[in-house]
Amino acid sequence: MKAEVDPNVIVYFGGEYIPLRDARVGILTHALHYGTGVFEGIRAYWDEAAQELFVLRPVEHFERWKQNCGILRIEVPATPEELTAITVELMRRNHFRTNVYVRPLAYKSAERVGVCPDDQDAFALIALPFGDYLHADKGLHAGVSSWRRIEDNAIPARAKVCGAYVNSALASDDAHRNGYDEAILLDESGHVAEGSTCNLFMVRKGTLITPPVHGNVLEGITRDCVMQLARRELGLQVVERLIDRSELYICDELFLTGTAVGVEAVVRVDHRPVKDAAMGATTRALRELYFDAARGHLEAYRQWLVPVGGMRAGTESGPERVTVSLVS
Ligand SMILES: Cc1ncc(COP(=O)(O)O)c(C=O)c1O
Repeated sequence: MKAEVDPNVIVYFGGEYIPLRDARVGILTHALHYGTGVFEGIRAYWDEAAQELFVLRPVEHFERWKQNCGILRIEVPATPEELTAITVELMRRNHFRTNVYVRPLAYKSAERVGVCPDDQDAFALIALPFGDYLHADKGLHAGVSSWRRIEDNAIPARAKVCGAYVNSALASDDAHRNGYDEAILLDESGHVAEGSTCNLFMVRKGTLITPPVHGNVLEGITRDCVMQLARRELGLQVVERLIDRSELYICDELFLTGTAVGVEAVVRVDHRPVKDAAMGATTRALRELYFDAARGHLEAYRQWLVPVGGMRAGTESGPERVTVSLVS
């Protein structure tokens, strides 16, 4: 995610819609020093044929965000539905006609020194035009990281806590410097956890296998989409169980899932080919199903989507405080 960012893009900050260049925090902000923030990542996909932008499962993302904020005792004073409405308003104000990435961020905002947090919280929503994250048309080469995944009793991996992403950053940096596209992290027991910012699936003998939610992984929403699609559309058996490192070397297919990544094949691990080093049939089918669902092409999954064009905006208290109501 290293694309240039337009400073004029409109963001939601301090309860107002303002240009990104004016959204600033002080140098002593608690979250900046101690990592005491919780973020989310949400995608909206532009469908050219329908001339429509679809936000993918925003209510579930905001529900997860608010639950995870609760782990850090951060209060977000809005419901998932209200946060969805703000998100849609951001799309409108920015006139986006392209794929978009939305980054909600809630954080401990007191400006002082001292690690023990108090109850001063703030949140922002930032929406940015966004292309492919890993650019993986040919499939990825992943490397097992020497960094271990954080444990639930240290910093919960299921929460997108800002400070916890030092773990992902260390692994990702090492992977890239060592010539890999992505890192695969093991947990302290030596079992496979996930990628630096994505969940992991493998196919063995026709069964789809992924680490369980108590395996120090983020409870991914894309992971859930893929599990639903695999069961309902492909009739696959989906098993949540621990995965050994050596299974990565002998499995039939391997792929990563995440809001930013989408569904991307891993075709080599630690310089070993996964099967014949090409995207497998199950990965390809799930990838197509996922992107079809995300663009509104699968009627059965339309309830995952909030169409931006299907929202009606009405101003309640001036142009900078807009109330948006769902009409779909
Ligand atoms: C560590 C980690 N695992 C998995 C995921 C995938 O989760 P989701 O599919 O909800 O984006 C992400 C990204 O959000 C992540 O940061």
